[in-house]
Amino acid sequence: MTVRRFPTSVHIREVGPRDGLQNESTFVPTKDKIEWINQLSSSGLNYIEVTSFVNPKWIPALSDAEIVAKGIQKAPNVTYAALVPNMRGLIRALDSPIDEVSVFLSASESHNKKNINKTIRETEVVLAEVTREAIANHKSVRGYLSTVFGCPFEGKVDINEVIRLTDSLFEMGIEELSLGDTIGVANPVHVQIVLEALLKRYPQEKIAMHFHNTRGTAMANVLASLEMGITKFDSSLGGLGGCPYAPGASGNLATDDLHYMLTSMGIQTNIQTDKLHSAALFIQDKMNKPLDSYTVKYGMKD
Ligand code: HMG
Ligand code: MG
Repeated sequence: MTVRRFPTSVHIREVGPRDGLQNESTFVPTKDKIEWINQLSSSGLNYIEVTSFVNPKWIPALSDAEIVAKGIQKAPNVTYAALVPNMRGLIRALDSPIDEVSVFLSASESHNKKNINKTIRETEVVLAEVTREAIANHKSVRGYLSTVFGCPFEGKVDINEVIRLTDSLFEMGIEELSLGDTIGVANPVHVQIVLEALLKRYPQEKIAMHFHNTRGTAMANVLASLEMGITKFDSSLGGLGGCPYAPGASGNLATDDLHYMLTSMGIQTNIQTDKLHSAALFIQDKMNKPLDSYTVKYGMKD
């Protein structure tokens, strides 16, 4: 029997300050968000989604987006990204020292409507303009496609719609697409079916995976993706997170658990374990509740 070959290094996109905090009822004070983001960058994470320029009435937990984006100490070699839903959000992002704009839409109509109050077709028109203007202003653009593996309102999602929207987002000019398992219903077989279809059209480095761990399948889905040559994963420190407009959505795949599994498999993440762990304990203290990740509960063993 031969041992399977995996990539030698993986890029982790830390989404904790955005996806992790957006669904929390506790408002983390702005100065603590800034301190946490600074700790994340000093741990070696080189990609951090710091906030969201959405309507603050929709996401009150991130209503301090500008102050956070302007308050962080930007480290060299770190990409700081923020979620942008429309032109109003882009104007706010362009006024902040953000490197990358993340646009988002869903592969299912009902979730898209609940999340951004528009049909998918209307959203495509908005995002095409946002992407064009962001690029004209020298920002790179990342795309998220949500509910790829299942929708909280419609159940199964048509893979042809996933392919159509992937093409649509790349045609707009996004650099990278993150495939979202918004409510944590993906399984390794489904992951490989979707990736097989998309990797016929786009190279592996253009695709990232965004798993929520609602039913405990996120890490198995990471392994299934690694087997397909995927090297980019979104995760949230301590497993915080979820979409407030997707009933049943719970925590993201935990960055610390992901880092633990990858490094123990000999896959480089370039993150310093002790600094990552302290940053997890810091946000746990600010949230005033135990975090879900295994490594916060049971520690990191080398
Ligand atoms: P809307 O109410 O339809 O917006 O919301 P509108 O264009 O009709 O404007 C209404 C008011 O909102 C106006 O103010 C606008 O100025 C204001 P008024 O004139 O009434 O005073 N407004 C804004 N204010 C600040 N920033 C903005 C902005 N836009 C409008 N950008 C909108 C449409 C898209 C804004 C709203 O639906 C929204 O903010 N939705 C965001 C929901 C959200 O953040 N969801 C979670 C993120 S997605 C996710 O978690 C999934 C992901 O993690 C991947 C996965 O897991 O699958 C990415
Ligand atoms: Mg998410």
